[in-house]
Amino acid sequence: MRKPIIVGNWKMNKGPEEAQKFYIELEKLMKNKTLDIEWAIAAPSISMVSLMAGDDKGLYIPLAAQNVHYEKSGAFTGELSLDMLMEYGLEYVIIGHSERRQYFNETDETVNLKIKATLNNSDITPIMAFGETEKEFDDKKTLSVVRKQINNGLKGINPNDAKEVVLAYEPIWAIGTGKTATPKQAQSVIKYSRSIVEEMFGKEVAQEIRIQYGGSMKPENIQELMKQPDIDGGLVGGASLDAKSFFKLLTYKK
Ligand code: PGA
Repeated sequence: MRKPIIVGNWKMNKGPEEAQKFYIELEKLMKNKTLDIEWAIAAPSISMVSLMAGDDKGLYIPLAAQNVHYEKSGAFTGELSLDMLMEYGLEYVIIGHSERRQYFNETDETVNLKIKATLNNSDITPIMAFGETEKEFDDKKTLSVVRKQINNGLKGINPNDAKEVVLAYEPIWAIGTGKTATPKQAQSVIKYSRSIVEEMFGKEVAQEIRIQYGGSMKPENIQELMKQPDIDGGLVGGASLDAKSFFKLLTYKK
């Protein structure tokens, strides 16, 4: 059984003060609630401290980084290493988000280096994002784009490690646009993605690996998306910024 995983991606939103307000609100909502899913928030690095409990009675929020460098340390201004993320207690790292690919020269090759470094040098779970642009979607290239990104991103990884990776299918035309892929569309691409994992690593890994959907996921559509047999969770931008809405996502009805 694959455990659902919902991750809020705050992108470049919320400084320490706003993050602290969010923490207080979410902590109230979560009182006496136990979740049977995995979850995390990918906050800006500088705001993460505001999401950490002050004592062991406070709400524990699993944290994710939005990016990482594959080198251990050195002259890489503006970057963070895996050791630094681990020292901070981070549990996940998003790798290859389309905004990083689009605006910061992230390529399939750097994605692959980062995934391998994360698996080899840390106990952090990599979340590898992939998905097609609107033009590629219109040109009916979705499946070939997805195939290439998964093949290149997971190249050279051994099957035992591969099942630890979380994949996140995010059609770029659905990110931040309010346009969600229909549950059927998302299911069909995610099922196809699972078949690529099977080709690469075998049936067992394909059955175990978790694949999220991302792109305008919100409380109103999460239930239908999560009903799809191959969708194992969500990578959520906009709807994770409000504590009530994020709480609704975490407690979606199965
Ligand atoms: P969105 O973003 O939910 O605002 O569409 C998703 C993402 O970019 O991960």
